[in-house]
Amino acid sequence: MNNKIALVTGATKGIGRQIVQQLGERGYTVLVGSRDLARGQATVKELVAEGIDAAVVQLEVTDERSIRAAAEEIERTSGRLDVLVNNAAIIAEGDTAAAEIGLDVLRRGYETNVVGLVATTQAMLPLLRKADGARIVNLSTELSSLTLVGDPAERASTVRMLGYNSSKVAVNMVTVMLANELRGTGILVNAADPGKCATEMGGLDTPRTPAQGAAVAVRLATLPADGPTGELHNEAGRLPW
Ligand SMILES: NC(=O)c1ccc[n+]([C@@H]2O[C@H](COP(=O)([O-])OP(=O)(O)OC[C@H]3O[C@@H](n4cnc5c(N)ncnc54)[C@H](OP(=O)(O)O)[C@@H]3O)[C@@H](O)[C@H]2O)c1
Repeated sequence: MNNKIALVTGATKGIGRQIVQQLGERGYTVLVGSRDLARGQATVKELVAEGIDAAVVQLEVTDERSIRAAAEEIERTSGRLDVLVNNAAIIAEGDTAAAEIGLDVLRRGYETNVVGLVATTQAMLPLLRKADGARIVNLSTELSSLTLVGDPAERASTVRMLGYNSSKVAVNMVTVMLANELRGTGILVNAADPGKCATEMGGLDTPRTPAQGAAVAVRLATLPADGPTGELHNEAGRLPW
């Protein structure tokens, strides 16, 4: 297989769907990560109809067996992975202010957004190491920026979702630590803030499209060898932690 191979988690809707679209249009072979096989297959059908090389990978990021099976399948079919986009995430129902959030709500958000992301990345790392200069992109948000949330003049300071926001702070730390650990290997690891987009998570009445949100993740997934690593970017450039 000569194309570069990219796996995107949670790729059947929202921003993830647009990331596979845009990487596919750039000639990548896209592996559509979906916890529901039938929905993944439907997405692959749409992509293939547009001439994109795509295949489905069943992937539930909170299930270690599913993750292991996905890695084994990619090993068998492709032998390596050039791009991993950790896109799958949730805002757990009941997520709210730090003074009030239920501990079960906090745990649920972390299980998908942090533990699931680390588990997926660890399982895919041997495949990413086999590629020539792999890229890892973790979907984050401006709501993870302590600088922005700490500034009362910023919109980010008004969003009361301790579970989601703090899980993405952890995603940022995973990004920086992994970038440090992988320095010199050719693998670049960055976090992407897509901006508030019209998805089920972002609210479907939001003016910004998921395609616009996907663009920054695609840019970080296709960075040249001398590109940044261990940074958080939105479409305008680097964001403060
Ligand atoms: N939309 C925004 O405004 C916004 C802003 C900043 C950052 N982000 C980030 O961008 C990323 C995509 O968000 P989105 O707005 O596109 O969200 P979305 O429309 O809710 O889509 C989330 C995707 O993740 C999948 N997913 C959730 N839990 C999963 C699990 N345990 N295992 C596997 N897949 C799982 C979902 O699959 P199912 O369809 O099976 O549920 C879905 O495909 C997220 O990381 C989010 O935090 C979004």
